Formats: sequence, C-alpha cells, structure tokens
Amino acid sequence: MPEQPPSLSERLGDVRSSPVRDILKLTQRAEVISFAGGLPAPELFPAEMVAGAYATALSPTSVAGALQYSTTEGDPQLRELLARRLAGRGLASHADEILVTTGSQQALGLVASVLLDPGDAVLVESPSYLAALQSFTFAGARLVAAPCDEDGLDPEALPALIAEHAPKFLYVIPTFQNPTGRTLSRARRRRLAQIAAEHGLWIVEDDPYGELRYDGQPLEPVAAHAEARDRTVTVSSLSKVLAPGMRQGFLRAPEALLGALTVAKQAADLHTSTVDQHAARICLQTGTLDAHIDVICAEYRRRRDALLDGLGHALAGGSTFNRPDGGMFVWARLPEGWDAGALLRTALRHDVAFVPGAPFYATDPDPRTLRLSFTTHAPAEIVEGLRRLRRAVEVGIDG
Ligand SMILES: Cc1ncc(COP(=O)(O)O)c(C=O)c1O
Repeated sequence: MPEQPPSLSERLGDVRSSPVRDILKLTQRAEVISFAGGLPAPELFPAEMVAGAYATALSPTSVAGALQYSTTEGDPQLRELLARRLAGRGLASHADEILVTTGSQQALGLVASVLLDPGDAVLVESPSYLAALQSFTFAGARLVAAPCDEDGLDPEALPALIAEHAPKFLYVIPTFQNPTGRTLSRARRRRLAQIAAEHGLWIVEDDPYGELRYDGQPLEPVAAHAEARDRTVTVSSLSKVLAPGMRQGFLRAPEALLGALTVAKQAADLHTSTVDQHAARICLQTGTLDAHIDVICAEYRRRRDALLDGLGHALAGGSTFNRPDGGMFVWARLPEGWDAGALLRTALRHDVAFVPGAPFYATDPDPRTLRLSFTTHAPAEIVEGLRRLRRAVEVGIDG
C-alpha cells in the first residue's frame, strides 16, 4: 500500500474559506442584481487608456525592459509617481520609501510575515476587511476586535486593549472602510497617532478607497501626523481607481520596516509583474488616470445616491444605514429580531443579493448587519434591485 503524504500545516486549520466568496458564488447568476461584491464597474474600466499603455510598454524601444526581471522594490519611476500621489494626499513621501506590491493584498501579507509570530495579537476594527483578517490569521495572529461606532474606530478604547493584549499592530481602514463605508475624522486620526506613539504600537493603515470621494474634503492619512510617521505602514492600491486585474498595490513604510518588507517580498514573488508596472506608470504619467477617476467618481456618486434614495423604503421599518461620502459600500442594520443571513436566502430567491455583515467581525458578529455595494450596477438596475429587496423583506415580515 502506498503511504499517505504528510498532513497540511497546522496554521491552515485556523483559516476558514471566505464565507463572502461562498456567497458571491451564489450571486453570480446573470439574473441576480447584486449589491454583494466590492467590484469596480466593468463597463467603466478605462480600456482604451490601458490598451494604449500596454502598447507603449511593449513598443520596440521599451519591450526588452518591460519583459525582463526587475528589482524587488519596483519600477523607480512608478515609485516616484506613487510617492507624489501620497504627497498629494497629505503624506510627504520619497520614492525610496515605496515598495510596489502585487495588489495591496500582498502588502498586508508582507506586513504579517514581517511582524507576526504565532500567537501575537493584532488589533482590528470591528467589523473589518475579511481578507486582511484571513491573512493575519494565516500568520498565526490572535485577532482582537477594537470597538467602533458610527464614526469608525474609537481611539480612546485602545490603551486598555494594548495593556491587556500587547498587540504587534493595529490594522485600520481610515477612509470609506470595507465593509462599513465609515471614515475616521481628522481628530480621531490625530488621537490614534498620539496613542500609538504613547503606547509603542505599529499602525497598518489601508487606504484603497480614499480617491473615490464624492462629497466633502479629503483627510490626511494617519501617517501624515508627526507621531505616526515612523510607526505606520500606509498601504494603497490602483485596483479601485484603475483596474484590479493589473494587481498594482503599494506601501509606504518607515525605514525600520522597509528592508524586512522588501526581503519578504523577494521571497514571495521576486517582484511585481514588470509589464504591468510599466503600463500602470504610463497611465499615471499621462495624467489620464486622474481624468478617469473624475469620471468614475461622478458615476459612482449617482449610483450611491440611487441606493441611498431607495434603501429606506426597501428595508424593514426601523432599519438604519449610513451615508458614506465615497468608496463602494453602505452599511445597514436590520431591526430587532431580523437576521441578515436569513434575509439573504429569501433575497436570492427574488434575484437580488447583498453580503451579511457577520463574517466581517473578528469576534461577536452582529447578525442584523449587512453590506451593500453600489458600484456594480447602473442607477436603474439599483432601483429594480431595491424593488426586489423590498419584496424579499415583505416575505420576511409575513413570515
Ligand atoms: C480594505 C481593502 N484592502 C485591500 C484590498 C485588496 O485590494 P487589491 O489587492 O486589489 O489592491 C481590498 C479589496 O477589496 C480592500 O477592500
């Protein structure tokens, strides 16, 4: 009899397959109007701009560089452009501080592999981005939920949690958070920076959505506050503003971490695809990306408004939901006695979908919460989706 090969690693045992992915599979029937996925609108992809950028990258004078191995840190000109982008958001940055990553998801994995030993605590917002929670769990982390209110993370709750759990870092999505769409005020960002400095904490701030702003004024990243600058890894991405398929993410890290992050990236994939980096660089250089961001922001704003205009009528009376100034998500809470997972099962029978909020909580899930994404469908489809959701809710009310 042939012997069985050895078992899988023990840490895999703690990592659940993403329940959100399982739900998304159910929503993929063509007839479903889905508020579930956090996907950019495919019909708004800047296909011509991207095709032109790849054609330039692969033209006879550039092709050899575009198809060759490259440095782990990333294309120097792209790093320069990304540093300038961060500076434009209020975080003065130098190209040498930037590491280009294969999506910002890789940046989160690199931070985990550089900072975490099995059993280490990580503070996360409650609720938070599921794939980040998975990545930290995969590195053996113990997730500690930090309390949040309608305005996001409450910095004043942190000192007690730090004293009790001695976490390695805090993971925070300060602007148009996934899943809640919440944004941390300037005052809270400042307090967070002060508390991290007072208590010796690393901060990992993840900001893929900040440039999708439809109302109000941009807020500086947490790392822009002097106390946080040398203790914060700022992670961002071109996925939501250009195209996620290009897998262009980046991080800005303080000197004390950057070397280790670069070595971890080298071990992971040597470097991010050269040709994709060159195409992204060309999109940024020509300035057409900024014009494109204006176009998608105008359309996403219409879609957000369509969802917000009809949501109050679609959900059961007594439900609450927020009104984010940007991003992709609205966060809602059903009245006492309702369960978002049960409502989803009924909703799917009416060809409409959303994501229940429970899987986004590291601990103590709130079964009444749900996340609705407004970017994937045009306003008329959103109106129809809400009509179907209302019918599903009426079934729920009738029992
Ligand atoms: C908060 C957050 N961080 C990171 C990511 C990963 O994005 P990407 O790897 O495409 O840059 C996402 C994607 O949805 C996200 O919502």
